[in-house]
Amino acid sequence: MSLRLRWLLLSTALLATLALGAACGDDNEAKPGALSGKLEIFSWWTTGGEAAGLQKLFDIYGTTCSKDVNVVNSTVAGGGGAAARQVLTTRMLGNDPPGSFQVHMGHELTDTWVTQNYMEPLDTLFKDEGWSSIFPKGVIDIVSYDGKPYSVPVNIHRANVLWYNKAVFTSNNLQPPKTLAEFFTVADALKAKGITPLALGDVEAFASVQLMETTLMGKLGAEGYKGLWTGATDWKSQQVTDALTTYKKMLDYVNSDHSSLTWDQANDLVISGKAAMTIMGDWLEGDMKAKKFTNFGWLPAPGTAGMYDALSDTFGLPKKAPNRDAVMCWLKVVGSKAGQEAFNPLKGSICARTDCDPKLFDEYLQSAMTDWKKDTIVPSLAHGAAAKQGWLTEISDAVTAFVANKDAATLQSRLATSCKTAGVCK
Ligand code: GAL
Repeated sequence: MSLRLRWLLLSTALLATLALGAACGDDNEAKPGALSGKLEIFSWWTTGGEAAGLQKLFDIYGTTCSKDVNVVNSTVAGGGGAAARQVLTTRMLGNDPPGSFQVHMGHELTDTWVTQNYMEPLDTLFKDEGWSSIFPKGVIDIVSYDGKPYSVPVNIHRANVLWYNKAVFTSNNLQPPKTLAEFFTVADALKAKGITPLALGDVEAFASVQLMETTLMGKLGAEGYKGLWTGATDWKSQQVTDALTTYKKMLDYVNSDHSSLTWDQANDLVISGKAAMTIMGDWLEGDMKAKKFTNFGWLPAPGTAGMYDALSDTFGLPKKAPNRDAVMCWLKVVGSKAGQEAFNPLKGSICARTDCDPKLFDEYLQSAMTDWKKDTIVPSLAHGAAAKQGWLTEISDAVTAFVANKDAATLQSRLATSCKTAGVCK
């Protein structure tokens, strides 16, 4: 072949490649109508408020991305997502990722998936959508690794909330408790009247882990609690002993069938007035709304005023995600103002974005927006923000054993060991 012919063939091939690249670039912009095929969105959102919020995102996807994409709502039920994470792990390791999946910001995202090289960076998307100035810097930092964001936060949830049935308190002439001391006084009074003071549904371990986490916050304060995850607070300290003894005492006031109930079934006890209170994240507010129950009040979990026990649900782009262009448009919806303003009022969370219209949110969520700006933010343990997955699993196992055997000394020693195993404590 002559040199000239070779050059001609080479440059034709080069031009073809460039043209293909440009076409792909156009596709990536995901113009309405240009997308088709299947888009699988994986989550554990199956309860009333969760499912309703998710459906809003799907609706917006249909109108802004494409009506021709078959959006498959792939859920694995189970509050807190432990069951879903197991299925997800099998699929990711087996090279069968969904289009996008629900993942908590923080350790759950970075340690499990990003550092293991399973996710694509989203810096271009964040740049194109102008998100660097729309999401709080602190949130962007937590979804980032090596300077690049790896997932799109759809919300901010608060885990340390005490929810109560107003009628139960009024008719028994009681005030909802602000401190742990008040909690036990009120709980005794309720118990004497045959009312379950605190509803718990820990068929999924996250609920009892979360109750422990809010008790640790109440006893150690924000700095002490945060230090548990950096090695600055000693797990063997007297303060932790006190917190765990208090946690043990709280368990004397929960419904006897707690280990067979889900978190939302525990909420039914509050709604019916069989129980007076429950300590749960604000997805419970979404559950109240879905169940059309309005006579409830809220306070920070006892002793935790001024602290915001935060977590965020986010979605990312797995490497090898099928129908990548359709996923990119999903991520745009998740991060958009319209998406977050539609999703969060039903979900019981506030926007991760800073520009949502507060008027679209109810009284509780407006109060959460105010607190989010002024409170000390601490990371949630039960929801993937404070500790990496392996550490959280060890803690969950220790807590599950403790809830059954009530051996606080063993719990404390297992917690201290787990911190060492995680490489955080000496
Ligand atoms: C959390 C999740 C929330 C909510 C809750 C109960 O882990 O972040 O969105 O769904 O579990 O399932």
